[in-house]
Amino acid sequence: MPAQTFKLVVLISGNGSNLQSIIDHIQAGTLDAGIMAVISNRADAFGLDRARSAGIEALTMEPGDYSSACDFDQALANTVSRYQPDLIALAGYMRILGAAFVDRFEGKIVNIHPSLLPKYKGLNTHQRVIDAGDAEHGASVHYVTHELDDGPIIIQRRVEISPHDTAATLQQKVHQAEHRIYPIAIQRIVTGEVNFNRIKPES
Ligand code: GRF
Repeated sequence: MPAQTFKLVVLISGNGSNLQSIIDHIQAGTLDAGIMAVISNRADAFGLDRARSAGIEALTMEPGDYSSACDFDQALANTVSRYQPDLIALAGYMRILGAAFVDRFEGKIVNIHPSLLPKYKGLNTHQRVIDAGDAEHGASVHYVTHELDDGPIIIQRRVEISPHDTAATLQQKVHQAEHRIYPIAIQRIVTGEVNFNRIKPES
């Protein structure tokens, strides 16, 4: 990997379809970055297999192996640091990062969230959107700050809701949108078009 490669570390907890989309765009040449490591907080995350299949270093760090959440966060931060990432991408990482972690990598962490933020922060977004009778839903890529799902939004993509949609069908639609926008958001950071202090949200 050339010395000037934009270095990513990706944190996951599960399937890793967004990780796969990032890998695919790097391989296709539409995302000018390299993934230095994929780290999962669950040993059974399928995303670890996706990483290894692509020749990427894949590690598991389980919170249960540490005496406190603080210790875990510090160990995770130390491990991430070893790769000297330009950006940390959360891709279905289902654990809240501690304040010390966020401070240590301030402005260098992004997340993908399955809703049109600021609507529907937190979990179960698809069902909540249906319950509210909304006409549209979507996905957002945003910088990570101390507040959950709250940092500056880099890009969003809308999906229409049909009367036949269920939480499961909406999840599929939103996933497709996520796979489109996450590599685009990261590429905008790579090129310097956006950064933590200067972004133009668009839909
Ligand atoms: C995505 O819907 C993402 O928005 C949310 O977790 C899900 C992860 O899916 N944060 P995958 O593991 O990338 O398939």
